[in-house]
Amino acid sequence: MDQRKHRSILIALILLVACKPACFSQERGTSASLKEALEGKFYIGTALNQFQISGRDTASLAVVKKHFNAIVAENCMKSRIIQPREGEFNFLPADRFVAWGEEHGMFINGHTLIWHSQAPNWFFTDRSGNPVSAEVLIRRMKNHIFSVVGRYKGRVHSWDVVNEAILDDGSYRKNKFYEIIGEEYIALAFEFARQADPEAELYYNDYSMANPAKRAAVAALVTKLQRRGIKIDGIGMQGHVGLKYPSLDEFEKSIIAFAELGVKVMITELDITVLPQPRGTGGADISSNFKYRQELDPYAAGLPDSIARASTERYLSFFNLFLKHQDKISRVTLWGVNDGYSWRNNWPVRGRTDYPLLFDRNNRPKAAVDSLIAK
Ligand code: XIL
Repeated sequence: MDQRKHRSILIALILLVACKPACFSQERGTSASLKEALEGKFYIGTALNQFQISGRDTASLAVVKKHFNAIVAENCMKSRIIQPREGEFNFLPADRFVAWGEEHGMFINGHTLIWHSQAPNWFFTDRSGNPVSAEVLIRRMKNHIFSVVGRYKGRVHSWDVVNEAILDDGSYRKNKFYEIIGEEYIALAFEFARQADPEAELYYNDYSMANPAKRAAVAALVTKLQRRGIKIDGIGMQGHVGLKYPSLDEFEKSIIAFAELGVKVMITELDITVLPQPRGTGGADISSNFKYRQELDPYAAGLPDSIARASTERYLSFFNLFLKHQDKISRVTLWGVNDGYSWRNNWPVRGRTDYPLLFDRNNRPKAAVDSLIAK
């Protein structure tokens, strides 16, 4: 072989090797990952369910490893599950969740310490079923927070300390904590969490945060805590949204208003339902429950292209907003890995087929993932 021919073969080889990653990503759109695409902007997280935490669902765990760098437990750290009876803790799933996160270098958020829902009855009642005194309830809150936060001290990076304390009209939710202790339960929860792990970041988390009344009330609550010198590091906007609600402008106003308080802003439970919502279920009040009707479940046999496109566009509009405010947003977390397991298939109507997440039922990335990666 003469020297010229030799050289051109060499150049061709070099070009082939150099172009491979780019060509591959053009063909498949998935050779890079979401977490690489969003690197330096904000964490991109997902919620892990029992099938993932137990290691049974290896296919979706592969997606988590590839695309995400933050995790939260969908259920196993909630009080009814982690402390089903007073003083009896069920730490096994949470231990596994934390260990898996550490093994894979994830930012680990604990969800959630004080929440009216998925809380066991014993928390609020005595042996005869009567409501306990404020003193007893405060002691139980303290024990719960110290036991859970204390166990994962230095390992769980942040906690949703209080979840959903404000109603859509801006008033306090009249949950059992409020009825027995009054609004002071919120400050107490943050203080106990800080004592249990002074290094962990502490957040307030809620849904319908684009709603102006709720925005104002949450901002007022956080300001009050700050004035008292109570540590609060961030505000989580859950983000259980739809194709048409809420307005992006209102969502943006909340991002800005919360950031102005000097705390981190996070989108903590993002999913975009494509299904019709029964009236009055714009938020994520998990006690809402409507009877199944066929017309509320239009895509059981498959998703029409037009709706898939609408979902992609909606995802991209939200992410454009998040990217615009990347200086304020520290994390965007999806509420689940793939459509198959999403809670939205069962809320607020049981047994529907929804398509709210970024990966389909076979763990294939949707068009929105490809576009975010290509950005
Ligand atoms: C949901 C879970 O996804 C479901 O599996 C469970 O049955 C009910 O709770 N707001 C929250 C989350 O803060 O904890 C809720 O998660 C969804 C609404």
